[in-house]
Amino acid sequence: MNAQLTPALSNGDLDAFWMPFTANRQFKANPRLLTRAEGMHYWTTDGREVLDGVAGLWCVNAGHGRREITEAVTKQLSVMDYAPAFQMGHPIAFELANRLAKIAPPGLDRIFFTNSGSESVDTALKIAVAYHRARGAGQRTRFIGRERGYHGVGFGGMSVGGMVNNRKYFGSSMLQGVDHLSHTLDIEHNAYSRGLPQWGAHLANELERLIALHDASTIAAVIVEPISGSAGVILPPIGYLKRLREICDKHDILLIFDEVITGFGRIGKPFASQAFDVTPDLMTTAKGLTNGALPMGAVFAHRRIYDAFMQGPEGAIELFHGYTYSAHPVSCAAALATLDVYAKEGLLTRAATLAPEWENAVHSLRGLPHVIDVRNYGLIGAVELEPRAGKPGTRAFEVFLKCFERGVMVRQTGETIAMSPPLIIESKQIERLVETLASVIREIS
Ligand SMILES: Cc1ncc(COP(=O)(O)O)c(C=O)c1O
Repeated sequence: MNAQLTPALSNGDLDAFWMPFTANRQFKANPRLLTRAEGMHYWTTDGREVLDGVAGLWCVNAGHGRREITEAVTKQLSVMDYAPAFQMGHPIAFELANRLAKIAPPGLDRIFFTNSGSESVDTALKIAVAYHRARGAGQRTRFIGRERGYHGVGFGGMSVGGMVNNRKYFGSSMLQGVDHLSHTLDIEHNAYSRGLPQWGAHLANELERLIALHDASTIAAVIVEPISGSAGVILPPIGYLKRLREICDKHDILLIFDEVITGFGRIGKPFASQAFDVTPDLMTTAKGLTNGALPMGAVFAHRRIYDAFMQGPEGAIELFHGYTYSAHPVSCAAALATLDVYAKEGLLTRAATLAPEWENAVHSLRGLPHVIDVRNYGLIGAVELEPRAGKPGTRAFEVFLKCFERGVMVRQTGETIAMSPPLIIESKQIERLVETLASVIREIS
C-alpha cells in the first residue's frame, strides 16, 4: 500500500534515505515519523503526542523547541553564517571555549571543537598519541578501551569501542594495538542496585594485567564512558573509576572520559567526572552541548596537555587536526544559548534533585514479568528484560514499539530499555513514562 504520510511524502518515497542504525526495510514498511517537538513532547505525522523519554538521543537536555536557542541561531545566521577556524578566528568561538572552561572539571580548560561525539573521540585519541610524541614518548600509541563501550562510529571510536555489531562487519579495518577491559555489567552480583553497584571495583585491576602484557611504555590512553549509555546503561561500580585513575597515573597513561551522554547535567553535575570526583586528562562531549539543536562536539583537554604542544617554532602549527566546521559560528551561538538556558533554569544540577524520585519510579518496574534488572543513576534509568529463546532483542524491541504506539518514546539496545528524559521532566511525566512502560511490559509475551 502506498499511503500518503505527509503532503509531500508517501510510503513509496522512503527509499532514498539510507537510515543510520535502523532496520531500513522494517522501518520503511511501517514508518514512525516525527514532525514537531516542543518541551517534553514530539508529535507524529498523524498528530499523535509522544512523551520524549530519551531526550531525542540523549541530547535534548533542556527540552525541545527552546526559543532562546532558535533566536540565537537565527541571529548568528543573519550576522555571519560561516567563518573558518583555520588560521582565522571569530569571537564567539573564544567566548564559548571560555564559558565551557568555567564549568569544566579542574584543569580541563582547553577546548577543541568538533561536530559530533564520534569526531570528539577520534580527536581525543589523536591528541593522546601526539601528546606523548611531543613529550618524547612517541612509542606510546596503544589504546585500552572496554567491552560494550560505545565511542561512536569513526575508525578510532569503533576500535576502542566494544559493541560487537558495530565491529564485526568491518573486519580487521580497525586501529591496530587496541585492547579492551571487561565491562562492568554483572547482573548476578548487582541486580537491582540503586545507584552505583557495590560489587566490581576490582575489575579496574584488569588494567594492570593489560599493562603487564603490553608494557606501559606502549600505551597512550585508556578510554571509558563514566556511565555507558548506548550499550545499555552500564554503571561503574563504587571505586572503579578512581582505581582506573590511580593505575593510569602510576604508569603515565592518559585517562579519557567519554562524556558524550553524561555531559551537561545528565547525572546532576555538569559532567560525570565531577559527580564521581575523578578527573580525566581528556574529556569528549557533544549532544547536550547545543541541546541537540545543531551538530557540535567539544574535547576538553587538560591545560598540561595543551601546554605540551605549545613548543617549537612560533609559526608552527602545533596540532595538524581540525574540521571545516570546527567552532562553526552558528553552532557556537546555539551552544552559548544552551548554556544560558542550563544556567538560568539550574538544569546542570536538576538531575540530582530529581534522582531519588526517578530512582523510586524506575525501581517500581521490579517484579514485572521478564524483568531481570533495573538500573539507575542521575536521570538515567534502564530495565533489563530476559531475552526470548533464540530471538535476542525482540522482546525489548516490541516494548519500544508498543510504548511508541502509546505515546511514549524509550530507547532499546539489545535486551535493555533505556530512559534518559530531558532534564526539565516533571513528576507527572515521570509517572506517565514509567506507567506506560510497566503496562506494556505486563502485556508482552
Ligand atoms: C559515549 C558516546 N560516545 C560517542 C558517541 C557518538 O556520538 P555521535 O553519534 O554524535 O557521533 C555517542 C553517541 O551516542 C556516545 O554515547
